[in-house]
Amino acid sequence: MKWKQQLNGMKAYQPGKPIEEVKKLFGLDEVIKLASNENPFGSSPKVKQFLQADESNHAIYPDGYAQSLRTSLAKFYGVAENELILGNGSDDLIAIITRALLYPGVNTVMADPSFSQYWHNADIEGAEVRRIPLNNGVHDLHAIYEAIDENTSVVWVCNPNNPTGTIVPDEALRDFLAKVPADVFVVLDEAYIEYVNDPSYKDTLHYFREYSNLILLRTFSKAYGLASFRVGYGIAQAEVIAKLDPVRAPFNNTVLSQQAAHIALQDQQYIASCREANEIGKKQYVAFCEKHGLNYFPSQTNFVMFEVKASSNTVFEEMMKRGFIIRSGAALGLEGYIRVTIGTEAQNAKFLQLLEEVLTEQGVLV
Ligand SMILES: Cc1ncc(COP(=O)(O)O)c(C=O)c1O
Repeated sequence: MKWKQQLNGMKAYQPGKPIEEVKKLFGLDEVIKLASNENPFGSSPKVKQFLQADESNHAIYPDGYAQSLRTSLAKFYGVAENELILGNGSDDLIAIITRALLYPGVNTVMADPSFSQYWHNADIEGAEVRRIPLNNGVHDLHAIYEAIDENTSVVWVCNPNNPTGTIVPDEALRDFLAKVPADVFVVLDEAYIEYVNDPSYKDTLHYFREYSNLILLRTFSKAYGLASFRVGYGIAQAEVIAKLDPVRAPFNNTVLSQQAAHIALQDQQYIASCREANEIGKKQYVAFCEKHGLNYFPSQTNFVMFEVKASSNTVFEEMMKRGFIIRSGAALGLEGYIRVTIGTEAQNAKFLQLLEEVLTEQGVLV
């Protein structure tokens, strides 16, 4: 077989264990997943109403151009329809961008730790990956800029960053965009933008008009509560979209997912209520960390990464036995930390009560 050499030893993405499997494994009646930064409240009730009444013909291929969702996104953001590309989740768009722009001989620059799909896709294409350590959990845009050379094709800025939840200050981002050479693409992955509440984070939409080398990525998987439907989108100048579009699979959003996303987008009141509930939940985690002297990264997302002063994997396992699936920092490049999705107020309270128990057992708390 003539496999790509770079596939040697490569593993598929390791998602957390499914809820049903954890229930069986530990004989639990209830298991709560706070591992993948999904919306604990689900999606707008209007989506459920639509799904219950849906009578679409499932034998027919979806609209490959996702016209009605495209029109509603264009209106919502005040952009042209040809300034949008739809993906099967933003994962799909990361793969499309990588496939279009990365190959052996070019390099790509990203923060470390950041979202794993940037380097995973780049590795498959055989491009050189340059990982630049975070500075206090935040992208070091100066060092990222320094790592760019004449062979750099794409720079990834995850803002807010997964797994730390931090944002790059607007001023630093503006200076960075002004400096990056015009033939180097900057992908600004804003999967969690709906949760950002820091007033210093300016709306980044206007940047794509200024910079023809900028692509914004957003998703319906997080605040919109539609992760299972797999809908993400990119915003960039029309010439960029025209180059990326041929790389996209022909029918990469299903009929139901296009309609669900279209309906969810209209219900901004629901998004505002989720953002408010998220802030309440975030305070529960911050209060816990401050009470116990545990370091945490200031999160602008629906998850918190914080120190446990014990083995990340042990805490992960112990919490799983108690019915909570989270992410071990060891798997995300931050040993001694855990990443927890902010749940409902009751889920957070239960989680923190059990975590206190585990950290006491581990000798961290007395
Ligand atoms: C930063 C970031 N980008 C992209 C994604 C992919 O999201 P999706 O493919 O569900 O849109 C995620 C999911 O966790 C993420 O955290």
